[in-house]
Formats: sequence, C-alpha cells, structure tokens
Amino acid sequence: MTLVSIPEDEMSAELYQLSGEIELEKILTTFLQIAIASMGAQIGCLILYQDTQWLVVAQGDTKQIQSLEIPLERYQEIPQILIDAVVQTQQMAVLDNFSQTVEFAGDCYFTTHQPQSVLCTPLTQQEKLIGVLYLENKSLQNAFTSDRLQLIPLLNAQIAISLKNAQLYCQLTAYSRNLAQKVAARTEESEEKSEQLLALFNAIEDVIIVTDVDGRYLQVAPSSAPLLYKPPTAIIGKTAHEVFPPDMADYFVRNIQQAIATKKAQKIEYSLLIGEREIWFDGNIACMGEDKVVIVARDISDRKQMENQLREQKGNLETTLQKLQRTQTQLVQSEKMSALGQLVAGVAHEINNPINFIHGNLDYIHQHTQDLLHILSAYQSHYPHPPASLQLELEELEFSFLSEDLHSILKSMKIGSERIRQIVLSLRNFSRLDESEYKAVNLHEGIDNTLMLLQVRLKAQAERPEIAVIKEYGELPLVECYAKEINQVFINMIVNAIDAVEESNRGRSFAEITSNPNRIWIRTAKTEENQVQIIIGDNGIGIPEQLRSRLFDPFFTTKPVGKGTGLGLSISYQVIKEKHGGSIHVHSTPDQSTEFIITLPVSRTSK
Ligand SMILES: Nc1ncnc2c1ncn2[C@@H]1O[C@H](COP(=O)(O)OP(=O)(O)O)[C@@H](O)[C@H]1O
Ligand SMILES: [Mg+2]
Repeated sequence: MTLVSIPEDEMSAELYQLSGEIELEKILTTFLQIAIASMGAQIGCLILYQDTQWLVVAQGDTKQIQSLEIPLERYQEIPQILIDAVVQTQQMAVLDNFSQTVEFAGDCYFTTHQPQSVLCTPLTQQEKLIGVLYLENKSLQNAFTSDRLQLIPLLNAQIAISLKNAQLYCQLTAYSRNLAQKVAARTEESEEKSEQLLALFNAIEDVIIVTDVDGRYLQVAPSSAPLLYKPPTAIIGKTAHEVFPPDMADYFVRNIQQAIATKKAQKIEYSLLIGEREIWFDGNIACMGEDKVVIVARDISDRKQMENQLREQKGNLETTLQKLQRTQTQLVQSEKMSALGQLVAGVAHEINNPINFIHGNLDYIHQHTQDLLHILSAYQSHYPHPPASLQLELEELEFSFLSEDLHSILKSMKIGSERIRQIVLSLRNFSRLDESEYKAVNLHEGIDNTLMLLQVRLKAQAERPEIAVIKEYGELPLVECYAKEINQVFINMIVNAIDAVEESNRGRSFAEITSNPNRIWIRTAKTEENQVQIIIGDNGIGIPEQLRSRLFDPFFTTKPVGKGTGLGLSISYQVIKEKHGGSIHVHSTPDQSTEFIITLPVSRTSK
C-alpha cells in the first residue's frame, strides 16, 4: 500500500477513501492467506477489534480467502470459547491434536469439526490487543511446529504495521475528505460572497478603482468600464501620468497621496472627456491598507447640468430683475418728468400770452413815448420861455435825463421780455407733449433748450465765475428719436458735468478758478452714414477707474443724500441703448476731465 498526495476535491477524496477500504480488505485477506500458507494451516480466520466490538473480518482456506464483517458472537464457524480465552489471557493457544481440544469440549465447534491442530494467537500492536488469528489443520496433528510458530511474531508485526498504515490512511482520507469538504464549503461561500460582491458592484453604476501611491491602476470594477477615460485593458498597470494629461494626473496623485498620508478619505471633483461627452465626477479616495487606495467616483453630469441651468436661470432672473428695476425707475422718472412736463407746459402757456402781450406792446410804447417826447421838444422850441412855474416843474422832473432814461428802460425791458419769451419757448419745446412720439428732430435745438433751462446753474455765483459752455456743433441731419427722452439724457449729462466741475472747485479760490475756468464742451458730428455722435465733456473731478463699471447701475451715486439719486446715467443708458439702439461710453482722467460719448442712429429703418 502506498500513500498518495492529499486529494484535491471531494470526489477524489471519496474515491480515495473507497480505495482505502478496498486496500484494507485486501490487506486482511492477503494477510490471512499468507498466514494459512506459511503456518501450514488448512483454514483460517481473522478477528479484529473494531469500533468497540469484535468482528470476523476474513475467513478462508488455502484456495480462497473471503473478507467479511460479522460480529464474532454471531459467527459459528469458529471455536468461540477458545477465542474468548485467547482474548482474556492474551496468550497464544496451540492445540496439537484433537485430544487437546477436548479441553474445549463445551465448544460445539470442536465436537462438530474435530480439527487435529489448532492455533489461536492474539495479535497486538504496541502491547495492545488488536485482533486474534485463528488457524486450523483438520487432518494433520502437530501441524503448527515450533519452527512455524517462530513466524508468529513476524506475522503479528506485519499485520500490526499494515493495520496501522491502513488506519493512518483512513484517518488521512477522512482528514483530507474533511479538508476537501471544508475547502469546497469555503470556496462555495467565497464564490457566493464574491458573486454577491460582484452583483453589488455591477448594481453600482460608479467607477470603482484600486490604485497604488503613484496612481497606478491595480484593479477596476467591471461595471466601471463605460465611465473610464480609456478601456480597462489600456489602463491596468499604468500610472495616472501614463493615462491622463499632466494637470489631471497631478490632481489625482496629489489626492491619493494625501489620502494615504492622512488616512482620511479625500473628496475630488473633476471632469473628463469620455467619447464625445464631457462627464463630471464626484469622487472619494479612501485608504486601503498602507499603500493602496480605492477610488469611487460617480457621474454627476446631470447634477452639474442642472446646476448650470440653475445658474443660468439665476443669471436670467437677475438680469430680468435689473431690467424690471430699470423700467420701474424709468417709469417713476418719466412719470415725474411727464407730470413736471405738464406743469411746465401749463405754466409756460400761461406766461406765454401775457409776455407776448407785453413784448408786442413794448414797441408801441417806445413809438408813443418817442412821439410824446418829440411833441414836447417841439413845444419847447416854439415856446423857449415858458412861465416860471412850468420852468420849475420841468427842472424838478429833470426832463432831459427822463427822456434819455426812458429810452434805456424801454430797451432793457425789451431785452428782459425777449429773454422771458425765449425761456418760455424753451420750456414749451422741452416739455411739448407731442414730442413723446418718434420723429425726426434737430438735436442742436434740444441741446440749446437744455442749456437755456440750466442757465441758473451755469451762470456766475458768489464763489465762482460763470461756467463756460463751448459748443462745437457739426453738420447734423435730423435725427429720428423720442425727442423728449433724448432731451432728458442731455439734461442728465449736463447736470452731471456741472456737478463735476463744481466739485472740482472745492478748496480753490475765485481767482484760482478764474485762471483755470470751469468748462463744459458739447461736440456733435455725423460720424457714419447713419450715425451721429454727441460728446458732452467737462473739466471736473473725473471718474476713478474702479467706479467706471458701476456708473450705469441704477441708484449708483457718489453724491450726498438729497443731491444724487443715481438714476441719471442708468436712465440715459436705457434711453440711448435700448430705446434708440445707440451707445453710450465714458472716457475719463481723474482730476482732469470726463467725456460721455453718445452715438445715435439717424433713423431706425436704415439702422
Ligand atoms: N461728468 C461726470 N464727472 C464725474 N463723475 C460723474 C460724471 N457723471 C456721472 N458721474 C458719476 O456717476 C455717478 C452716477 O451718476 P448719475 O447716474 O447721474 O447719478 P447722480 O448724478 O444722481 O449721482 C455720479 O454720482 C458720479 O459719481
Ligand atoms: Mg446725475
């Protein structure tokens, strides 16, 4: 019998055990065969103590040995009493002739079979009784000679070793079967577990990757494939720097090393171009042992898209809100202007008639007084010596001075009434309700009207001389526009210019201002076929660079409460840009000058 290596699976373990059993039977029958032959017996029987009982395991004669498994007490083909005695005494019994067997006369086996020679010997293993060998020669006395009996210890040793081997073998097969079973169970369990894990991984639509410190791809979950930058086969074993552009790779490796160094999971967010699509990922890098990390990244493109949409919507809402605010302030302002306009128009109209009346009659008064004075001087030449009382009255009246003064009074009255007429005209022009409609107008008139209305602010004051207004008008065609609103823009611009030059006067004496006087210039030109440009400039405080982006915001003002509303430029911007399709820009050198450059299309159609 040979021992072979441990069986690899349960099936072969069973086969092995079976072969072990077959081996054992063979050992026993062979042993008995050898015993019968070598001892010169005719029949024999081998009894072994197995599993708490005595079993007859082999029986036979010189020709044939048969293996059995019959409890000793039920086996009739053997002298039970003799066997019992040998078991009890653990001494070999040799009966040389039939007469000796009479000792065991009570045993019916002897009386029936009457064997001539009988040998019954205990079989031991390390002094422990393991079995009994029974041999018999029916016909020959003294069959078991002392020479032959010397073989008994040899036989015993052989069966003991064989049995020990067989036993070991059995134990081994049992062990290996057990082992195989365990391995199988474990394999099944781990297969089940890995199947479960795999199912779990597959159910997760995330990218799952294991890398080392350098971002070298060690493992990739199969479900990750569609979201990988390159196919799994192209990245396994490669480092991040071999797979990604340098910036991206740096980002990954930095976070991987951070995760390993701090033993804390790192959050990452990045986008990759996969196929035609840019995919955004939200990832987590967690330590796995000392020098590995597992990266789990989720496709958040939908979320990103939503965020972008939201941001866009927010932006839209913000611009809508701004538009609304502008429209609202514009509405408020135009409401105010229209109320003011109506008031001004009403007042202008009311003044217009009487002033025309006065102005128109001044000529007649002049004529009539000239006539009267003429008649008086005629009287004087005809009557050079009037009575003394009349002469006195004439002297008291200072007649010669009166006639001169009357002349100059009438002249200044005429100038005054002319001025009132012009102001009234400007007011009426400026606020004429019919001008809210879209029509071709002369912009120079609008500017002049505006300047006229702003005379009060332009003229000399206690602390400064008059602000010089330099008009450099070019050749302008009639421009199609909402005249009233364009006039409003001019007012806003010129008022700002006045404020700016006045602000620049702070801390300067009258003399200083006179030597470098306040100036406002207005230049107009036709710059393109369908475009005119109006520049309104001043040598005031100028606008600091950092404020320029906010100038046109509603309510942005640098002026004290009550003086500035911050609406002038925002409304002007609306009027020029949105209502007329023009543009409005600012150039400024702080502490020196500011210019607002307005362009307007000449007409809408050819725009
Ligand atoms: N010509 C100018 N020179 C200097 N600053 C100016 C000029 N025009 C406008 N600004 C600046 O722009 C701001 C906004 O002007 P505006 O919208 O007309 O509002 P407000 O005149 O009520 O302040 C002003 O407060 C001022 O700071
Ligand atoms: Mg203003």
